[in-house]
Amino acid sequence: MKHEIIEKNVGLLGVLVAIVISVGGLVEIIPLTVSSETTQPAPGVKPYTALQLEGRDIYLREGCYTCHSQMIRPLRGETERYGHYSLPGESVYDHPFQFGSKRTGPDLARVGGKYSDEWQRLHLINPRDLVPESNMPGFPWLVKHTVDSSLTPRKMQALRTVGVPYSDAEIATASADVEGKTEMDALIAYLQGLGTASQTWK
Ligand code: HEC
Repeated sequence: MKHEIIEKNVGLLGVLVAIVISVGGLVEIIPLTVSSETTQPAPGVKPYTALQLEGRDIYLREGCYTCHSQMIRPLRGETERYGHYSLPGESVYDHPFQFGSKRTGPDLARVGGKYSDEWQRLHLINPRDLVPESNMPGFPWLVKHTVDSSLTPRKMQALRTVGVPYSDAEIATASADVEGKTEMDALIAYLQGLGTASQTWK
């Protein structure tokens, strides 16, 4: 009989449905915010260096994430191709994370060290020089622009407020670390660091 009251009262039904869904959602989400597996860095994972951090911002600015994911799923086809599946503890210093969902190009979560710096440079200037069938656009202007070193310490400070453990010394030398570097140098430093911590797990 009580059930009948709920079924005949759409407002009450709506409220109860919302409560049930919220409990389901909270049970899935709350453990993720407290579990050390998702909030602590995986072994060997370090905050980005000043130069890598600038490179990451260029990765965002140029929209690399619209074609590249950074999330290797625990499926055989993916791990055979890209390496160990991504762990939550590898993204703890990524604000925002770059998991992505679009793969026009390959996943980049472990591309660090796969190619030489020179390969990356030539490929980013004109991908077709190295991969003739590539439909990735070239980014030749990155070699012409230098990084704005005055902003780097402030970016690191902002990240520190959300939990990235940059020391005062690292922030103090950040401008000097990126001074005179091109956007291409920064982007390559970022790419070459991606997923490299996992190389120590074997
Ligand atoms: C329009 C889609 C598109 C965009 C935007 C794009 N890429 Fe690509 N990328 C591709 C495709 C397709 C490939 C595979 C062919 C090749 O190697 O060129 C690729 C390959 C790569 C590779 C080699 C990966 C491997 O494992 O062989 C790297 C590194 C890379 N891209 C980095 C970048 C970066 C950095 C940016 C942003 C500056 C970017 N891409 C933007 C489509 C894209």
